[in-house]
Amino acid sequence: MTNNVANKIVVITGASSGLGAEAARHLAALGATVVLGARREDRIKALAEKITSEGSKALAVETDVTDRASVQNLIDTAVKTYGRIDVLLNNAGVMPLSPLENLRVDEWDLMVDVNIKGVLYGIAAALPHMKAQKSGQIINVSSVAGHHVFQNSAVYSATKFAVRALSEGLRAEVKPYNLRTTIISPGAVQSELLNGVHDEATAEQLQSFVPGIAISADSFARCVAFAISQPEDVDINEILFRPTKQQL
Ligand SMILES: NC(=O)c1ccc[n+]([C@@H]2O[C@H](COP(=O)([O-])OP(=O)(O)OC[C@H]3O[C@@H](n4cnc5c(N)ncnc54)[C@H](OP(=O)(O)O)[C@@H]3O)[C@@H](O)[C@H]2O)c1
Repeated sequence: MTNNVANKIVVITGASSGLGAEAARHLAALGATVVLGARREDRIKALAEKITSEGSKALAVETDVTDRASVQNLIDTAVKTYGRIDVLLNNAGVMPLSPLENLRVDEWDLMVDVNIKGVLYGIAAALPHMKAQKSGQIINVSSVAGHHVFQNSAVYSATKFAVRALSEGLRAEVKPYNLRTTIISPGAVQSELLNGVHDEATAEQLQSFVPGIAISADSFARCVAFAISQPEDVDINEILFRPTKQQL
C-alpha cells in the first residue's frame, strides 16, 4: 500500500527551524525526498545530512524568499536534481507583531516581502513545472491570524489573509492542470517565530501566554502529510487547527 507521500519530491521553504524543519523530518520519514530552502545554510545542511544518514534523500539549497532569483534557483535545482517537483510547501514566514501606532514600518515591509512576495515567488517558480507535468500540489502556510485580526497583528494578519486569498485564486485557476492547492492555518505551535517580535511590550505579552499553550511542531507536520497523502483526485483545501487550550 502506498501512502502517496513516498518518492514525492517536496520543496520546503523556511526549512531551517520550527514548522518547516519538522515537516521535512516527518515527510522524509514517510519516504519523500525533501529539498530544503532557508537563509541559514548551516542549519539546512545539517538537517539534510541527518535525513540522508537515516536513509531518505534530502538536499539543502540556501534561499532567501524575498529574492525572486533565489527562489527560482531553489525550485530549478530541485527539478534539475530529481527530475520534477511534486509539492511546494510555501512555509517561510516572519511575525514581528506590534501596534500600528508604533510605526515599525521596516517590519511591515519585511512581513509583506517574506509572507506575501515570498509565497508569490514560490508560485511563480513552481507553477510552470507543475503545469508541464500536469500534476503537483502547492501548500501555502497561513495562520489562525489569517482568519482573525487581533490587537498588534494587523500587518501580520493582512499578510496571512493575503496568503489565503492567493491560494483561493490559485485553486480557481489551476483545475485544468490537475494541480492541488492547500492552505494550512496553524494556531500557536512551538517554533522560533516569537524570537522575531522586537516590539518590547508585544514580546512580553506574547511570552506571557504563548509558550504555555503552544503545541509541538509535529502537529503541523502531520497536517502536511495528511494533505499530501490523499489520493490525487482529493484536494484538501484548508486545514485550520489550534492547540486545544487556545482560546482565540
Ligand atoms: N509557530 C506558530 O505558532 C505559527 C502559527 C501560524 C502560522 N505560522 C507560520 O508558520 C510558518 C513557519 O514559521 P515557524 O513558526 O516555524 O517559525 P520559525 O521557527 O521562525 O521559522 C521560520 C522559517 O522561515 C524562514 N525564513 C524567514 N525569512 C526568510 C527569508 N527571507 N528567506 C527564506 N526563509 C526565511 C526561516 O529561515 P531562515 O531564517 O534560516 O531564513 C525559518 O526557517 C510561517 O509562515 C509562520 O507565519 C506559525
